[in-house]
Amino acid sequence: MGAYIAGSGTCLPPNIVTNDDLAAIMDTTDEWIQSRSGVRQRHIANVGVGSAELGANAVLASLDDAGLSVNDVDVLISATMTPDHFAPGNAPLIQDRAGLGAIAAHEIRQQCGGFLYGLDLADALIAAERAETVVVVGSEVHRGYMPFGASIHRLLGTSTAPVTDEDYATATASRAWSVLFGDGAAALVLRPGPTDAGILATTLHTDGSLFELIHVPAPGFVNQPWSSTAQIEAGLHQPSMSGGELFRNAVRLMPQAIRTVLETYGATVADLDLVLAHQANQRILDGIAKQLDVDPAIVASNIADYGNTTAATLPLLWHDTKNDGRVPAGTLLAFTAFGAGAHWGAALYREPAAVTS
Ligand SMILES: CC(C)(COP(=O)(O)OP(=O)(O)OC[C@H]1O[C@@H](n2cnc3c(N)ncnc32)[C@H](O)[C@@H]1OP(=O)(O)O)[C@@H](O)C(=O)NCCC(=O)NCCS
Repeated sequence: MGAYIAGSGTCLPPNIVTNDDLAAIMDTTDEWIQSRSGVRQRHIANVGVGSAELGANAVLASLDDAGLSVNDVDVLISATMTPDHFAPGNAPLIQDRAGLGAIAAHEIRQQCGGFLYGLDLADALIAAERAETVVVVGSEVHRGYMPFGASIHRLLGTSTAPVTDEDYATATASRAWSVLFGDGAAALVLRPGPTDAGILATTLHTDGSLFELIHVPAPGFVNQPWSSTAQIEAGLHQPSMSGGELFRNAVRLMPQAIRTVLETYGATVADLDLVLAHQANQRILDGIAKQLDVDPAIVASNIADYGNTTAATLPLLWHDTKNDGRVPAGTLLAFTAFGAGAHWGAALYREPAAVTS
């Protein structure tokens, strides 16, 4: 018995930053960003708003959509790489803010692969009958990483002060990665599904030898002290990314994982109606379509509107495609993700006919 998606909800900060807004604070262009990544705009949370707040709102919206209450939730699984606090992470903050009661709340740290790992865990708990209703939430506020200095206030609409040369230079030095990310949260409610529907097969992988392809070097407890101004001055608190290598691995490993779950279930690529892949770059999505030899139209995309929201991309994409009417009963789709760790994998899913419970 596979777990099925009984509801979804999102929370996006209202402030939208366009590529032209970024071009006003660093040396970049709308043309470069759109042609290299597909991103047109991203939401950026106001200072003081953290990923736990967005995550809790998304959880409540997903329960509302499922017609359930906070008392129905047995387990919460929170995935983020940008928790409000280094410890204890977001799970307890989201549990408390959403008013879920003293249930088990897992915190998982698989970055762009986080939501997929959460889905697999939810499915396993439900299949083992250790939980009936599990909410998986991905939430991120990347804003704190952005080395934009005082220019962040221009992006948030809270200042019109001119951009200083120093802030312009620092922001430009980050342009290869900072233009790709956005803030937001989304949650899915998982419940026991009917036979031959819901999650049909999953595969998860980790290769830690690839961890340096994208990582945040500091702070960290391998250092003494674990956090220091020297680390910040050296920019070690910001992501270090080998974009090209990531790109090549993502295009190779996500289609491979999709083929694995199809084979496990006994289906073929030709049976797929939809692919919901982690939204890191439109060219990666096009690469997935090419590798699988499917119509690019079945590889859904909303990266233009949100950028890469790390752990939130898959539930955001589910929410949008479902609400666009692209997931009618019977739809066979594959979730897939690849990200920092490296962690990657896929989940095969069939949308059930309306479930009554
Ligand atoms: C990051 C990424 C968009 C870069 O695209 P790319 O086509 O490989 O671009 P390159 O890194 O080769 O850069 C090409 C040029 O554009 C410049 N450039 C980089 N960012 C720029 C920006 N925002 N605006 C303008 N120019 C930029 C570079 O400096 C480089 O200039 P040069 O040729 O004079 O040195 C792409 O590699 C990618 O998306 N990788 C995967 C990233 C990812 O998945 N990250 C999250 C992990 S889950």
